[in-house]
Amino acid sequence: MVERKLIYQIYPTAVGSLRDIADKIPQIAEYVQPDYIWLNPIFASPWIDGGYDVSDYKKIDPRFGNMNDFRHLIATAKKYNIGILLDLVMNHTSSEHEWFKKSERHDPKYKDYYVWLDRPINWKSIFGGPAFSYDETRGKYYLHLYDKAQPDLNFNNPRVIHEFREIIDFWKQYGVAGFRVDSANTLAEDALKSGILPRITGFFNYFQTEETVDILEKVLARKDIFTLAEPIGGQILGKSRFRQLTRKAFDAAFNVGTIDIADTFFSDRYHMKPVNYKRWLKYLASWSTEPKFSMALESHDTPRAPSRFQADPRVLAMLQLLLPSNYPCIYNGQEIGTKNPKLSNNIDDYPGVQSRMMYRTLRKEGKTKRQAMSAVRLASRDNARQPIDWGEYILQSKDEESTLRIYQKLIDLWRNDPVLVNGKLKVKKITKTGVFDFYRIFDGKTYKVHLDLSNKTVSYLENHEGQKLIRSR
Ligand code: NOJ
Repeated sequence: MVERKLIYQIYPTAVGSLRDIADKIPQIAEYVQPDYIWLNPIFASPWIDGGYDVSDYKKIDPRFGNMNDFRHLIATAKKYNIGILLDLVMNHTSSEHEWFKKSERHDPKYKDYYVWLDRPINWKSIFGGPAFSYDETRGKYYLHLYDKAQPDLNFNNPRVIHEFREIIDFWKQYGVAGFRVDSANTLAEDALKSGILPRITGFFNYFQTEETVDILEKVLARKDIFTLAEPIGGQILGKSRFRQLTRKAFDAAFNVGTIDIADTFFSDRYHMKPVNYKRWLKYLASWSTEPKFSMALESHDTPRAPSRFQADPRVLAMLQLLLPSNYPCIYNGQEIGTKNPKLSNNIDDYPGVQSRMMYRTLRKEGKTKRQAMSAVRLASRDNARQPIDWGEYILQSKDEESTLRIYQKLIDLWRNDPVLVNGKLKVKKITKTGVFDFYRIFDGKTYKVHLDLSNKTVSYLENHEGQKLIRSR
């Protein structure tokens, strides 16, 4: 069923331990009023990929605390009517997970938990380099769509499906409200089963097969939880695949293509180009009316939006919350307009596997150290993973005109104003300099929205009586 829910994403190291996160909930509740807080992975992990390499799905990583701290977090959130969503990393585990350790040793129960081949094939990993690596212990090659420390699970094995149903039940007992599913549309590699291996090397080999969608429905069905998908594929995804993915298994889903289209091409991900406002805004507007689309302008995988789109964070807030947006997702720090920090010029200082991979790729392409580092600093996801400036939060809470207070007002309207809740979208004008004029129409009332991403004119929301309900300055 399509409802409207506001999601607030917390990348734990940007805030701290589970206790630190719980301490911030009153503030987050006051200014953002989310229905859900989605936490990026907090499970035990060697942290090769910022927590997306899980070594135990039923254990909290000690860096964030323990089960008591988790209970405390759930209880605190509940007081503010906020549900906690955990991040379910289903496509792969860490190579340190005991399932993999046993699978390597050919343990009868676990030998088919992963995708093993006698001979590697030419598939490429999403993180660059080959997607199959040799495992000395087993004497075979295993699939890893991401880093080699992230072996892919074999979802053709019903036991693996069962494990995830159990993991979900385990966390439900603690009061978890739902899950965001990582890399949701890459679970089953049907091509490997047929024996006829395609010559293509990239992600089309494993991109959202019908089997993957069925598996997700099996794992998530009848669980009475809120489910949010992170499909890969960006602009290639398209609406019919989006609807296929969300037909049963998911309440809502992202499409990173709706931001990547602004400044990158899919095949050219690490070469950020000047923002193409016209192309981006047209595409975003067309996705905004998709009922289960979760609109996000930034995340733990992107640079900060005001830096990336060279725009006033208040105008970006208006874009996200005044277009039809049933499941907006606000990334921690976005509500105070956080910009990219000044990241180091030395690649060794970057924790993220993606930043290092990007550097290697650019160097291989012949870019100088300087050129490669300037691209990394611009596009690295480490930009978004820095500690939040809570001092700034307090300052902005006292200033009526601040980004934080604009978010607060916009969210009130998003929740309560019938025209913004139900209004049909009518686009009037989109220009290449980032002027975006549109109407929201409901019950004989027309609201007018004027946004100017280049900030040459004041952006505003005007109601049917000509009153300006929100202004960017
Ligand atoms: C998507 C996550 O958002 C990203 O951070 C991670 O590296 C990959 N999936 C692999 O799990």
